[in-house]
Amino acid sequence: MAVDPLWYKDAVFYELHVRSFADGNGDGIGDFVGLTQRLDYLADLGVDCLWLLPMSPSPQRDDGYDIADYRGIHPQYGTLEDFRTFLQEAHARGLKVLTELVLNHTSDQHPWFQEARASRTSPRRDWYVWSDTDQGYPGVRIIFRDTERSNWTWDPVAGQYFWHRFFSHQPDLNYDNPEVREEIWRIMRFWLELGVDGFRVDAVPYLLEREGTSCENLPETHQVLRWLRQRLEEAYPHQKVLLAEANMWPEDVRPYFANGDEFHMAFHFPLMPRLFMALRLEDRKPVVEIMERTPAVPEPCQWGLFLRNHDELTLEMVTDIERDYMWDEYAKDPLARLNLGIRRRLTPLLEGDRRRVELTNALLLSLRGSPFLYYGDEIGMGDNISLGDRHGVRTPMQWSGGYNAGFSSADTDRLHAPLVANPLYGYPVVNVAAQSQSDSSLLAFMKRLLRVRRQKARLFGRGTLRFLRPANHRVLAYVRELEGEVVLVVTNLSGAAQAVELELGELEGAIPVELFGGSLFPRVSHAPYVLTLAPYGFYWLELRWL
Ligand code: GLC
Ligand code: CA
Repeated sequence: MAVDPLWYKDAVFYELHVRSFADGNGDGIGDFVGLTQRLDYLADLGVDCLWLLPMSPSPQRDDGYDIADYRGIHPQYGTLEDFRTFLQEAHARGLKVLTELVLNHTSDQHPWFQEARASRTSPRRDWYVWSDTDQGYPGVRIIFRDTERSNWTWDPVAGQYFWHRFFSHQPDLNYDNPEVREEIWRIMRFWLELGVDGFRVDAVPYLLEREGTSCENLPETHQVLRWLRQRLEEAYPHQKVLLAEANMWPEDVRPYFANGDEFHMAFHFPLMPRLFMALRLEDRKPVVEIMERTPAVPEPCQWGLFLRNHDELTLEMVTDIERDYMWDEYAKDPLARLNLGIRRRLTPLLEGDRRRVELTNALLLSLRGSPFLYYGDEIGMGDNISLGDRHGVRTPMQWSGGYNAGFSSADTDRLHAPLVANPLYGYPVVNVAAQSQSDSSLLAFMKRLLRVRRQKARLFGRGTLRFLRPANHRVLAYVRELEGEVVLVVTNLSGAAQAVELELGELEGAIPVELFGGSLFPRVSHAPYVLTLAPYGFYWLELRWL
């Protein structure tokens, strides 16, 4: 059967870190052999596409986002052959695979930078952004504000300053140089030829710099990105997918879709903190507001929705007051804060409250867009905020309550990161093996949720979304609709039971069928439709005209 080129619009994505997923050779570090052995788990979970964090050779000072060789596999993760096997096995199970394209910067250990810094006349010199002073592009914000004081760093070898938007060991590439653009395209082709289905493209807003601007989202940057997309379509028409990481307001992300000729997908960053805000305020307003502020995107395009990922829960896309609120409510421990965000996993953020974990996932999977799950969150893994940087949300996957959580057979001291071992979230209590044996585990719930969503994948991925405005603002309710199919989603954002009256006017005569148990609800009449909801309860109701 031919693959629908818009498959990503109906897909559920699963983000994972090879280093932390499964160790196949017993050296304490996750690798492709281990990951390949766990593909059955992922297929059985019910996700459609894997997104792998950076896997290329790297000094690992930013967990691989500092690349030293774009055409290889980091030796600790295996060989290119291991990767090829992994990819084949994933595809054999119907799983697609996105890898990372880190194009804004390289590691300072990359041979390009080593050559560039060595001499002003090196042909590589112009591959990076140099200056004799650190005064250029004033006012450009610093992203890693807990570690960096300037976007310029003096390089004693080069005798000049170089420009970097992230860590000072990650020099930015110079996209004004056509050789850089050509080389990035060759790198893309290298992985596409191997069979990857597309890329999550890292840090796209920062490719080019211009004096007197914020150096973000510049028209010149869009030009480069559209050029890459054009090359992609020429070489692989309608076959591959580009997903943008642009942590921006919806109106600033919209141009990354252009006329459907730039990115296929982009993450919706501002929605994420607002889901947490709505839950804490017990009020639907933050979610409704941001979704109504979200512009329509061209037909082949799609938003990527997420609750958590490998970074801190970023609070860049909220106001100062909202950020203080989020910090006060969700990061009381100052150790949990990092840069402008919170470095915690989903379940600890929600204080281990199973009802809230289920509710947020039910929202993630029913709002308009393609959902992204973060590895370990399907079993409610905890974090370790005493580890540096963002490592606390990247600890080894907890497969079992046995030796090293079933992650590795290495000496426990040799694990690349300690296992979460606290009494609430430690691997003896939170693990895949235990949860696989219980129909009432979070894992079992997530599988059910994913199964039901898959039955309605097109509707949830592509259907329209219309918010209802019941007087009870603790209830968030919306109608999803596609080609005559209608699903009504009703959620209770509060910790107390709620009743709600919904104006369903045009749905009069329909019978709501609850999608998890199949029960029939009373027929919709011309009168307001009354529902009661348990604390943090939710319904997915398909409207049928029987
Ligand atoms: C992206 C990644 C983050 C990384 C940064 C610099 O924001 O998500 O993990 O540190 O880029 O590469
Ligand atoms: Ca290993």
